[in-house]
Amino acid sequence: MAGTLKVVGLGGSLARISRSRAALRKVLDGAEATGADTELLDLRELGLPMYNPDDDEPGESATRLIESCYAADGLVWSSPLYQGTISGALKNALDWLHLLGSREPSYLHDKVIGLISAAGGTQGLQAINTMEFATRALRGWAVPYVVPVASAARVFDAEGRIQDQAVEFQLETLGREVVRVAERFVTHEPADHAAECQRAAERVAAA
Ligand SMILES: Cc1cc2nc3c(=O)[nH]c(=O)nc-3n(C[C@H](O)[C@H](O)[C@H](O)COP(=O)(O)O)c2cc1C
Repeated sequence: MAGTLKVVGLGGSLARISRSRAALRKVLDGAEATGADTELLDLRELGLPMYNPDDDEPGESATRLIESCYAADGLVWSSPLYQGTISGALKNALDWLHLLGSREPSYLHDKVIGLISAAGGTQGLQAINTMEFATRALRGWAVPYVVPVASAARVFDAEGRIQDQAVEFQLETLGREVVRVAERFVTHEPADHAAECQRAAERVAAA
């Protein structure tokens, strides 16, 4: 059933060894184990330019980001905790998704989003809460179960290998959960009802 679902992971830091990227890979492993297709959008590899509303023609990297996110049934966002919030690199990627506003349906309509973070300390939930604001702005649905990885340098070693089986289980569980919930969105809504709700939401937004 889940074989055709696509889950896209977006995040990691720009660092060569990134715990938030390593954690994201674990979540995608969990999603893949259910039979879903997965894709990692690694922010270091993507090398996105800064989003500029006056010059927002997407190049190759921004096009890959936008199209992969739009094609996904489920997403996983992973940020390092930087100064008590998400990284600039992840925020910039989310800003590029503004270009999905003109699509039909717009933005990340009805996409399920799993949220994780990696922090040096214990306040990783702050990054997750920030990502949840962006989830709502982009019309997505956050999975209630979230994984803020605390003391990330202890949970992942210097090469990014996970050292804590309990956290590994939590991350893989989130991957399965994103697929489970995304599957409900894909299969449980009659198409005519979805279109009607979309039109109503657009009327409200335009009023
Ligand atoms: C610019 C910067 C800001 C940071 N701010 C915080 C912070 O406010 N709280 C915290 O617990 N850790 C903070 N850290 C530590 C990172 O959250 C931690 O090293 C995390 O693993 C980084 O993610 P990465 O491994 O994916 O690069 C900061 C690190 C950097 C480089």
